[in-house]
Amino acid sequence: MGLLKEPDLGTPAKPGLATVTVEVDGMPVQVPEGTSIMRAAALSGTEIPKLCATDSLDAFGSCRLCLVEIDGRKGTPASCTTPVAEGMKVRTQTPRLEKLRQGVMELYISDHPLDCLTCSANGDCELQDMSGVVGLRQVRYGYEGDNHLDLEKDTSNPYFDFDPSKCIVCSRCVRACGEVQGTFALTISGRGFESKVSPSANDLFMDSECVSCGACVQACPTATLQEKSVVDLGMPNRTVLTTCAYCGVGCSFKAELRGDELVRMVPYKDGGANEGHSCVKGRFAFGYATHPDRQLKPMVRERITDPWREVDWETAINHVAERMKDIQARHGVGAIGGITSSRCTNEEVYVVQKMVRAAFGNNNVDTCARVCHSPTGYGLKQTFGTSAGTQDFKSVAQSDVIMVIGANPTDGHPVFASRMKRRLREGARLIVVDPRRIDLVRSPHIKADHHLQLAPGTNVAVVNAMAHVVVTEGLVDMSFVDSRCEDFDAWAEFIARPENSPEAVAEITGVPAADLRAAARLYATGGNAAIYYGLGVTEHSQGSTMVMGMANLAMATGNIGREGVGVNPLRGQNNVQGSCDMGSFPHELPGYRHVSDDAVREVFETLWERPIVPEPGLRIPNMFDAAVDGSFRGLFVQGEDIAQSDPNTQHVTAALEAMELVVVQDLFLNETAKFAHVFLPGTSFLEKDGTFTNAERRINRVRPVMAPKTGMHEWQIVCEIARAMGYPMSYPHPREIMAEIAATTPTFAGVSFDKLDKLGSVQWPCNDSAPEGTPTMHVDAFVRGKGRFVQTPFVPTRERSTRKYPLILTTGRILSQYNVGAQTRRTANVAWHKEDVLEIHPHDAEVRGIGDGDEVTLASRVGTTSLRAVLSDRMPVGVVYTTFHHPVTGANVVTTENSDWATNCPEYKVTAVQVGLRHSGSAAEQESEEEPALVD
Ligand code: SF4
Ligand code: SF4
Ligand code: SF4
Ligand code: FES
Repeated sequence: MGLLKEPDLGTPAKPGLATVTVEVDGMPVQVPEGTSIMRAAALSGTEIPKLCATDSLDAFGSCRLCLVEIDGRKGTPASCTTPVAEGMKVRTQTPRLEKLRQGVMELYISDHPLDCLTCSANGDCELQDMSGVVGLRQVRYGYEGDNHLDLEKDTSNPYFDFDPSKCIVCSRCVRACGEVQGTFALTISGRGFESKVSPSANDLFMDSECVSCGACVQACPTATLQEKSVVDLGMPNRTVLTTCAYCGVGCSFKAELRGDELVRMVPYKDGGANEGHSCVKGRFAFGYATHPDRQLKPMVRERITDPWREVDWETAINHVAERMKDIQARHGVGAIGGITSSRCTNEEVYVVQKMVRAAFGNNNVDTCARVCHSPTGYGLKQTFGTSAGTQDFKSVAQSDVIMVIGANPTDGHPVFASRMKRRLREGARLIVVDPRRIDLVRSPHIKADHHLQLAPGTNVAVVNAMAHVVVTEGLVDMSFVDSRCEDFDAWAEFIARPENSPEAVAEITGVPAADLRAAARLYATGGNAAIYYGLGVTEHSQGSTMVMGMANLAMATGNIGREGVGVNPLRGQNNVQGSCDMGSFPHELPGYRHVSDDAVREVFETLWERPIVPEPGLRIPNMFDAAVDGSFRGLFVQGEDIAQSDPNTQHVTAALEAMELVVVQDLFLNETAKFAHVFLPGTSFLEKDGTFTNAERRINRVRPVMAPKTGMHEWQIVCEIARAMGYPMSYPHPREIMAEIAATTPTFAGVSFDKLDKLGSVQWPCNDSAPEGTPTMHVDAFVRGKGRFVQTPFVPTRERSTRKYPLILTTGRILSQYNVGAQTRRTANVAWHKEDVLEIHPHDAEVRGIGDGDEVTLASRVGTTSLRAVLSDRMPVGVVYTTFHHPVTGANVVTTENSDWATNCPEYKVTAVQVGLRHSGSAAEQESEEEPALVD
C-alpha cells in the first residue's frame, strides 16, 4: 500500500451540504461552503506552498507562505485562513507571489541549520520541500545576526527528541497538543524573534504535562520533533496498514518499515476509530515484539519443577494432543477445556472455541472477558437485545451531556478521551461518577459539572437514584418509552419507591442528594446524553445489575437510537468485543446464541460434522474449582496470564498446580507459564493476519508486518492440535476462517477480508440489511424488538470494611501501562511507571504513620502484598487505589473471590484491606482501633 506520504489538503474538511464553485488557476472546483482556498486548491489538484497549515489542525495563518491573489480583491491573503466564496477566481502562482514566498523562505532559512544532507528528516522535511517549491536560490541574510542555532536539544523523552535549533515556530505542535490531544502541554513563549516552543512550565518534555502521544511529532514539519527510531534507523521506505493491539479503541496505524525493520508507527488519518491520532502505547510501545525475553521455540516438561526442554512444533503439538486425549480417557470428556484471549484476533479465537467444541467435545471454553466485560454482555442483551455498545466513537461529537461512569478514559482509552475532550471544550456538559477524582474531573479547559464521588460498590444505588429523580420529577420521555419499550410501569413503580431516592441512598453512597438530583436533571434534560463506562461498572458483584440500570436510565430519557446518545462500554483489551462475539463463552456459540438452541447448534454441527453438547460448559472460576476438586485436569490457555490477572491468585495457582496438563500459548514465559507443562510461543500483532473488533463493534484488519518469528501462526497451531486429536481442521488463510464466521453468524454475514480491504473497516451487524455495517444500533427498534426495563434492586456487596480491614481498595490502570504489563513493561514506557504504587489519602496515611514514598503492606482477608505508598487526595478518606501492571506487586493476591451474580466477573473494584508501614509488621496483624469502618 503506497501510504507512506498521505495527502495533506492543508485545512480540515468542512462538513455541510451546501457547495460553492470557485476557480483556482482557471480550474473550476466545487467544495462545501466554508472550505479554505488552500483546501479547494488541493482538491482541484493544485498544492499551494504551506508550512504552518496541515489538514488535521485548524488554520493558523502564521507562516505567510500560502499567499494567493484573488480577482477583485486587494492584497495577497493567506489561502489557509481565507474561505472560498461563490464565483471566486484565485491565482496561486504569479511573479509577485513567487517573490513574496521566496522572501519568507529566506528569513526561515537564515535561522535554520543547513545540515540537510545529514539531518534525520532528510526526505521528510516540509521546510526542505518548500524551499524547492518556492524556488529558493539564495539566502541574503546569512547567519551573522541573532539566531537560535545553538539551542540545546531535549532528549529526555524516551521516544522522541526536541531540537529547538531547527524550530520554525509554526505552532503546529502546540496546536496538535491542544486541538488533537487536548493536553495543552506546549506553549510558545516570547514574542517576535524571541518566540520559542517549550513544554509549559518546564523546560524538559519529561518533566512537563506531556503524555507522549506523539501528535506534536507527527505535526512537526521539520526535524525539530523527531522519533528517536527515525534518528537511529533512518527514514522508512514502505508501510503496512494495521491495527493497534493494545486497548479497545482499536486505532489504525501505518507500520512504517525500512526493509524488514519497523521504524515507526504512524496513526492512519482514515482510521475509523482514531482518524490520525494515537496514544503513547500504540505509537511508540511496540518494542516488546522484538524483546529478547520472547520465547520463540515450543517447549515441554513433565513436571512444573523440571527445566524446560525445547522441541520442534510437531513434537509439541503431538504431545499436547496425546496428553489431552489421555486425560479424557481417564477422567472423562469434560476434564479438559480452553481459555481464549482478547489480545488475539477474531480468527485465532474462533478456532480455539471450535477446537474445544469439536475436538475436545465439550463447551469448556471461556475468555478473559469473563474478568472484565462479561456483565456488559449480559446486561445489554437483557435490556437491548445485543451484547455490545450502541454507538460509534464519532457519535460523541453530537453529545450535549456526557456521563462517564467507572472509567478513566484519559488513561484507559486515550484516543477516545481526546475526542471526548474536544466535544467538552466545545461546550458539552460532563458528569463523572467515580470514587476517584480522575483527570477528566478537572483538566485544561475542562471541568465536570458534577463529580459524584461515590463509595466503591454503590454504583447501583446511584443509578437507581438518578432514575428515581427522572421518574418522580416527570422527566421521562414517555413518547419514546410508549413506542419503543416494555415493562416500564412495573419498573417505574419500583424505581419510584422511597428507598431509591437520592436522600435515602446518600448515606451509603456518600453522594449528597442535591448533587445527585442535579446530575440526574442534567442527564435527562440537557439534550443528547451519552453514557460511557468501564470496568468500574462491571467488576462488581452487581456489575450486570448496573449495566441494566444504565440501560434503564437511557431508555427512560429516550437517549438511545441516534447519534450523540447511547450506552457505551469502553472495552479494555483490543479484542474483548471480538473474543465475546466469537463464541468463547461456555454457554454461547458465535454471535451470542445459546448452546441449547437446536437450530443454532445445527448450523455448526452441519458445517463442523461433529455434535455439539447442548449444555453450557465450565466458566473460568468453575474450571479452577473443578481443578482443585480433581475433576478438571487439562487446560489450553491462549495469550492470557491468568495467574496474574485473575482474582485470588492463591486459588488460581492452586488450581493450576493441581492440573496434569497446562498448555500456555503466549509471547513470554509469563506467570501462568510457571505452572505450564507445554509452552507454545505465540505471535505479536506485527506477525498476525486477521481482524480485531473494537469497542464500537468496528472490525479492523490486522495485517502482518513480518512473518511469524516462531515459524507458525497461532491459528495454525490450534488447527494442528485439533487434527492430532482426531478432528481435521484446516484453513488455507485466515480469510477462510472469517468466511466460516460469516457463513455461521448472522451479524457477520456481510463481513469478508475483501470488504474490509475495500472499506477500511465495518461495524457489525454487517449483513444484507446493513451491507456497510451499523454505526448506531437500535435506531428504529431495539435488536430484541422492544427495549426491556429490568428492575435493579441495590444489594450491597458482601465485601465490607471492618475494624480489621477498614479501608476499601479499588484498582485501575494508567496511561503508559497496559493490563498486566507483559508488553509495556518490556518497552521504554517503564520510564513513566516503574512500579505499582498505593494511592492513599493523607488522612488515612497520617493515622497510620505513613509518609509519601514509604513501603507499606496491603492486606485483605485472602492475602498480603507490599508496595510503595503515594499520598493523594484523589481518593476519598477510607479508599485506597492501586494499579496491577507489575507481577512483583501481585495486586490480585489481595482481591477476593466475590463476583458478579450473573456472570462471575470478579469484584476487583471492592476489597476491604488494611494498610500499614512495612517495617511495623503485617498489616493484617494491626488492629486499627482509631479507624472507623467505611461501610459496615
Ligand atoms: S517544533 Fe516543529 S511544529 Fe513545533 S513550532 Fe517548531 S517546527 Fe513547528
Ligand atoms: S507528545 Fe502529545 S502530549 Fe506531549 S507535547 Fe506532544 S502532543 Fe502534547
Ligand atoms: S488509544 Fe488504544 S488503540 Fe489507540 S493507540 Fe492507544 S492503546 Fe492503541
Ligand atoms: S500555511 Fe497559510 S499562513 Fe502558513
